[in-house]
Amino acid sequence: MSFKTLDDIELKGKRVLLRVDLNVPMDNGKVTDLTRIERVAPTITEISDKGGKVILLAHFGRPKGRDPKESLKPVAAAVSHVIKRPVAFADDCIGAAAEKAIAAMKDGDILCLENTRFHKEEEKNDPAFVDALAKLGDIWVNDAFSAAHRAHASTEGLGHKLPAIAGRTMQAELEALDKALGAPKKPVIAIVGGAKVSTKLDLLENLVSKVD
Ligand code: 3PG
Repeated sequence: MSFKTLDDIELKGKRVLLRVDLNVPMDNGKVTDLTRIERVAPTITEISDKGGKVILLAHFGRPKGRDPKESLKPVAAAVSHVIKRPVAFADDCIGAAAEKAIAAMKDGDILCLENTRFHKEEEKNDPAFVDALAKLGDIWVNDAFSAAHRAHASTEGLGHKLPAIAGRTMQAELEALDKALGAPKKPVIAIVGGAKVSTKLDLLENLVSKVD
């Protein structure tokens, strides 16, 4: 297993594009389950405590273009509530709004950028969109394990443009997977859950290929 973690890179003063999964359940503008936010909270606070500028990148829902109902603004407020620190918000994830908000950040500050899927180029992993995101940061930290099956600009493309680091949630998931799949003590049983089996078929095929 070879990947870099937050232990391997200097964070102080760096603009850290932190991809998280903030695709949380909402009802009437209120987050109804904080689990995903709680899972990434330690990565956010660790980077902030080490003097990095934490720039949160995430998708929310499956919008067709910009849609206020699928804004990350209320989710950013929930992140702030969970980590008990201010979280600023910029109403676009690229361009002038994002650049201005990032230029105003001090070391340790936390900023959430608007829903990456407001740009159709996100899901296309469009090179120009990847470049527009990449110029906002010095380092890319991926802590969005539950979105890592998507090869989108913010979940995959950025890894080719900036130093790529696993966040603590990603690290924990990769270490657990390696324990189970790398050199497992046999016999091994896999219990696979989740609502969207279509997105897990590759994983299931990989598991089957390990049966001997
Ligand atoms: C999820 O909620 O399963 C992840 O955030 C991925 O969302 P998606 O299926 O809309 O890509």
